[in-house]
Amino acid sequence: MRVGVLTGGGDSPGINAALRSIVRFGAKNDVEVVGFLEGWRGPLEDLVQPMTLADVSGILHIGGTILGSSRTNPFNEPGGPERVIETMHGNAIDCLIAIGGDDTMGVAHRLADYGIRAIGIPQTIDNDISGTDYSLGFFSALEAITDALDRLHTTAASHHRVLILEVMGRDAGWLSLMGGVAGGADVILLPEEHFNVDSIYTQIKHRESMKKRFSIVIVAEGATPAGLSGQVVDEAEVDAFGHMRLGGVGQYLANRLSERMKMPVRVTNLAYLQRGGSPAPFDRILATRFGAAAIEFALAGTFDVMTALHGMKIEAVPLADALGTPRPVPEGLLYMVDLFD
Ligand code: F6P
Repeated sequence: MRVGVLTGGGDSPGINAALRSIVRFGAKNDVEVVGFLEGWRGPLEDLVQPMTLADVSGILHIGGTILGSSRTNPFNEPGGPERVIETMHGNAIDCLIAIGGDDTMGVAHRLADYGIRAIGIPQTIDNDISGTDYSLGFFSALEAITDALDRLHTTAASHHRVLILEVMGRDAGWLSLMGGVAGGADVILLPEEHFNVDSIYTQIKHRESMKKRFSIVIVAEGATPAGLSGQVVDEAEVDAFGHMRLGGVGQYLANRLSERMKMPVRVTNLAYLQRGGSPAPFDRILATRFGAAAIEFALAGTFDVMTALHGMKIEAVPLADALGTPRPVPEGLLYMVDLFD
């Protein structure tokens, strides 16, 4: 069997560990692997690279993806699906493994109608893919966020400031909530609940009355202030899947708070620092298991599915069930937002 693999969308730590696992477990089962470069741009433009044991040696602990990534959407390109199919046939690919988020795996699912046999591996630091407990990269990003909050605490306390940390999370607040809990943020703001500047002001004032002379706020880029019609957008830039580039909600909040309080308010946007770097042990293990499971599914002829973590087990979930709607933080976990209010 000959398997193709590509990595698309915003990268996350753990992708390389998955590539290594696909190639190593593949080799053990007589599966040959080739890589397509730059997400779906690879199959569109026939950008192919061999993936031998030597190619994946020494990459377990390295973040990003050795194949490169992009947000290319073949369905937006002239003759896109047909060009992808031609590349698959030209390279004698029996099955394609697409490592990515909703958009990347969504393309794989749509291509099933064109005869492509695909398997998805969910990766996004946002952790907002339905059908799996966790996606690759989430726990690594959490480490970066927790570290940032630890650092912000010491300087906030020294200078008696309100420090706001803006983190990623376009539609779901997994990073903000779990990062905020792990790093002890005083105010946690998520896309799941509109926030109210007045209540944040009151919360900070309450802390001041308790002799707490600093406050730490964590806010997801997708969190929306009550009264505003939509999310805060930094630059009006839309990607090939129709997503607006978010950013600036931290500064928006800082401006509103600064209008009414004396304590200085400053913003840090963690941006790509939370997406780069080495994968956490959890992600290395999950990636290794996802990669091997993808090969097993391919050998068993189980296609149009995604590898998923359910408790301790890795299972196949139909792509049709996993894609389309981002998975919000469930209501059962939202109590942590104001656990210590
Ligand atoms: O891939 C998800 C994500 O991490 C989002 O949280 C964020 O909005 C987006 O990527 C930004 O990525 P880029 O700037 O690379 O398009």
